[in-house]
Amino acid sequence: MKKIGIVALGRYLPEKKLTNADIEKIVDTTDEWITTRTGIKERRIAADGELTSHLAIAAAKDALRNSPVKAEDIEAIFVATVTPDSAFPSMACLVQKELGATKAFAYDINAVCSGFLYAMTTAKQFIATGMIKNALVIAADRFTTLIDWKDRNTCVLFGDGAGAAVLGLVEHGGILSDFMIANGQGAPLMGVVPDKIRGPYDTTVDTAKLPYVVMNGQELFKHAVPGMAEAVNIAAQKAGITVHDLKCVVPHQANDRIIASVAKRAGIDKERFFINIDKYGNISAASVVVALCEAVEAGRIKKGDKIALVVFGAGLVAAANIIEWSY
Ligand code: UT7
Repeated sequence: MKKIGIVALGRYLPEKKLTNADIEKIVDTTDEWITTRTGIKERRIAADGELTSHLAIAAAKDALRNSPVKAEDIEAIFVATVTPDSAFPSMACLVQKELGATKAFAYDINAVCSGFLYAMTTAKQFIATGMIKNALVIAADRFTTLIDWKDRNTCVLFGDGAGAAVLGLVEHGGILSDFMIANGQGAPLMGVVPDKIRGPYDTTVDTAKLPYVVMNGQELFKHAVPGMAEAVNIAAQKAGITVHDLKCVVPHQANDRIIASVAKRAGIDKERFFINIDKYGNISAASVVVALCEAVEAGRIKKGDKIALVVFGAGLVAAANIIEWSY
């Protein structure tokens, strides 16, 4: 079996910050509530006219700056997103055009907050079969465009951003195991309504009413904790290691209390989790790859370290990977 790993990482976060103090002016909430219940202090908001494709392209360029594989040699591009600029063309094709990655095939993947790991594992399988030698995997969301800014249950939680990874063949380490799972029974817990906004013959639908996210936070919390703890354990088992061998765990950043509970349930010291939710909130699929990028930059992950990535999202969908870091 070939060794396949991440060979470069990048990220892009829009400049504009929306602090808890700013949100206090919009809905009935407090910095204290948001901080203690979620760990979030601020989030980034895409500028007017800054679309998901722009976030994705900026993150991809950042990854390629540090990559041994150049844009013209990239053979596949996957973009995990739930906020494409439009229904089609895919964000992956827009990235391909902008990068001049003319040898690549390209398509988008929708697995909401688990999107990056779903896309990375998809890319890894193509490389493992020998069909391609490398891939560019991007997660990008302008998630705040789906937010009802009158709903304090959701508007405090999310932000915009993008992260990217180049996957290729590696000499040492690489992705040691993959685990992905879905539970559609939990689909009603989070989604975007109204879902019939453009029904073909329904003239009664108010098309001016924009779609927005609704979420049963408490129930999702109850699913997220066992879902993520189990995913890490299964991925560790598949890699032939125990969670005690993990130097760092990079989780989806939905809530600091979820991360604390996952740590406890999985039997891993919370100190080993990399957390940056305070700066960005929940950036959907991009959360885990932006956090991974920052964990490597901060020296929390070094060559030879065994680490876990673990995510959970609406769907419900969960995933985890164990990686032995290659550079
Ligand atoms: O990304 C993947 C999917 N998303 C998730 O995984 C999110 C999972 N869920 C969560 O992170 C948490 O459930 C939330 C952060 C969404 C909510 O935290 P909670 O501790 O579960 O709060 P709650 O919904 O139980 O609400 C507690 C109280 C309620 O008031 P009462 O009924 O006790 O009087 C809410 O109305 O807090 C109130 N509340 C707020 N108060 C101030 C809810 N949102 C706010 C707010 N500011 N923004």
